[in-house]
Amino acid sequence: MSNKIVVLGVTGSIAAYKAVDVASQLTQKGIDVEVILTKAATQFVTPLTFRSITARPVVTDMFQLASPFSIEHVALAEAADLIAIAPATANIIAKLANGIADDSLTCTVLATAAPVVIAPAMHTGMYNNPVTQLNLTKLHQRGFTLIGPLHGRLASGGIGLGRFAPPDEIVTTICHLLDRKKDLIGKEVIITAGGTQEAIDPVRYIGNRSSGKMGYALAAAARDRGAHVRLISAPTSLAKPLGIEVIDVQTAEEMSVAVGEMISRVDILIMAAAVADYRPVKMQKEKVKKADQRWDLTLERTPDILAETASCTPRPLRIGFAAETENLLHNAKVKLDQKDLDLIIANDITIAGSGFGADQNQVVIIDRTGCIEELPLLNKTDVAQRILDRVVKLLAE
Ligand code: CTP
Repeated sequence: MSNKIVVLGVTGSIAAYKAVDVASQLTQKGIDVEVILTKAATQFVTPLTFRSITARPVVTDMFQLASPFSIEHVALAEAADLIAIAPATANIIAKLANGIADDSLTCTVLATAAPVVIAPAMHTGMYNNPVTQLNLTKLHQRGFTLIGPLHGRLASGGIGLGRFAPPDEIVTTICHLLDRKKDLIGKEVIITAGGTQEAIDPVRYIGNRSSGKMGYALAAAARDRGAHVRLISAPTSLAKPLGIEVIDVQTAEEMSVAVGEMISRVDILIMAAAVADYRPVKMQKEKVKKADQRWDLTLERTPDILAETASCTPRPLRIGFAAETENLLHNAKVKLDQKDLDLIIANDITIAGSGFGADQNQVVIIDRTGCIEELPLLNKTDVAQRILDRVVKLLAE
């Protein structure tokens, strides 16, 4: 990554302190990081902090006479290999979407031809506001890459969508964009994500702990590498990724129908969803009232979606996941054989900080020949990219 220049724009959000970590990680990779702070950002973090981390001057003012750059917004806009705005407030998003250029950062973005990455961070109400969504859609259509936001604890004390994405995820995405891998252009991809829910009655269901993060990370990574992605998503609390057609489903049956409708037209199927294996034989129309000490539910098998696609013609590349608590490699290999897969991604869900609900995952990739690639504990964006590297190799073969 040496010889690369990233302009890091920091705007006025409480998450601004996390941008210090982004700047630090990028600098450690040998990237020259040129930081531009908006006036509001300087209320949260100081230029000195970034100057100390990056060993570069920090731009805070359009009219800095002592600046080493002749005219910053032109110099940095032309020099940048990539511009990342992290955190990005609703205000900067609105300005960029509408071409406003009233400070160093907005002028630089308006003047650049480099790819731009935006990591929004804001209150849920501001994020969900249709005008913010419209602005984000405009930026996406102009080719900006959006990272996050996540669902979680916000500065207001509330819980909701709007939390800044983890710095290492932002750094991973920046590095992949600097690499400019566009090796999935023209490919049709279906990715399933989340945990299916099988209704017992109008208020209860059988579900599982899947957050959907792995599937969503795969969908975003495939999109960024040029694929046309359809994401068949069971319920999650994640923001819908822009540029990806999301098909919402609830049950294994609905997911099976959605996959079945599209499978003959795709090059790649990645089943990252945690699909319920059993559902109640009958969904009760009314809420079941408590009565006896025991309540025995009778369950029946759901369709095995991945196994059912084995006979599909033309046959796409089919990749499955195996979430295991014991005998990881053996169980994963059995699934690979039984479902006749091209790859299986095995993850031991007992590892702390990995798998269901976590931002990170530690997986083993196994192919048809039995070749095993063990990956270290990585953030899910990185895992997604590593899986897609293998997919691209298989396509080439
Ligand atoms: N899968 C599927 N349909 C199901 C169950 C699972 O398509 N009804 C897919 C999952 O999306 C995953 C793979 O099959 O890619 C393996 O899922 P997993 O739940 O680990 O295994 P199962 O086949 O359900 O076997 P078991 O629950 O016995 O471990």
